[in-house]
Amino acid sequence: MHGDSEANAAQAEYWNSEPGRTWIDMESALDASMAAILDLVIARADPRPGEHVLDIGCGTGASTLRAAAAVGGGGRVLGADISGLLLARARARAREARLENASFEVCDAQVHDFPPAVFDLMLSRFGVMFFGEPVAAFRNIARALRPGGRMAFICWAAAERNPWFAIPLEAAVGRLGRPPAADPNAPGPLAFRDRERVADLLRSAGLEKVTAREEATVLTPPGNRRQVAAMAVRLGPATRVVRHFDGTDADRAAIEEEVFARLEPYATGQGVRIPAAVNVFAAVRG
Ligand SMILES: C[S@@+](CC[C@H](N)C(=O)[O-])C[C@H]1O[C@@H](n2cnc3c(N)ncnc32)[C@H](O)[C@@H]1O
Repeated sequence: MHGDSEANAAQAEYWNSEPGRTWIDMESALDASMAAILDLVIARADPRPGEHVLDIGCGTGASTLRAAAAVGGGGRVLGADISGLLLARARARAREARLENASFEVCDAQVHDFPPAVFDLMLSRFGVMFFGEPVAAFRNIARALRPGGRMAFICWAAAERNPWFAIPLEAAVGRLGRPPAADPNAPGPLAFRDRERVADLLRSAGLEKVTAREEATVLTPPGNRRQVAAMAVRLGPATRVVRHFDGTDADRAAIEEEVFARLEPYATGQGVRIPAAVNVFAAVRG
């Protein structure tokens, strides 16, 4: 078992195995791709000098390190993640950056016994869409905030508004077929695409001053169109389709070729630039 509970055992298994290793392999490409989104979450969360911050689902720690720099030596940031694999990498990055005010804890944020009422702020970039019971999870996280403490996090908007998801998905489905429909709100990267539903979840968890808005941004993956196509197929929703149909290397190559073709409109003199839509949520513990 990983972390402190089996409440999200499937997610723990997922992020502690091959997908977690792939995430680490692709860390610098992912961080480069999502640089503007990190700026957005930091701007919305606004970590201030001296604050005590909780970063949920921090992965390899890009947002934890940014928050730790923002709160300075008088503040502290705890990166919480269900994957020990990813946190080992996050710890190494914090050491390299000499950020002694960043620490990390392997845990399931849905049920972990965080110290009550100590954090000024919870933030997350794409780390809160994987809870089996989101209301219980947000109630648990809210308990860790001091009264008046803030929460700000970013999730993907719908796939139709995100070519980064839509293109590999369509390419994989075109090659292999469509897997049986799953619950669209089940834990996963797109689970929080419906802003009203998530705002209701947050209110049900007892949070106040809930806001939810869509923001347009741009993904800036490094490399040429061929390299970006390979990245999209290695990480994105195509992997689920390939896994479901036991796709072969030839299937993967064909999907990648199709993604390469469909990325053509996004190739610019500065590299591949993919428009994206994210949902930005904020709330306060009353
Ligand atoms: C899409 S990744 C985002 C990682 C990181 N925030 C970033 O932007 O680079 C989602 C992260 O959420 C973590 N996660 C999933 N379920 C979790 C849970 N119940 N408790 C804590 N972390 C969780 C995963 O291990 C993974 O690191």
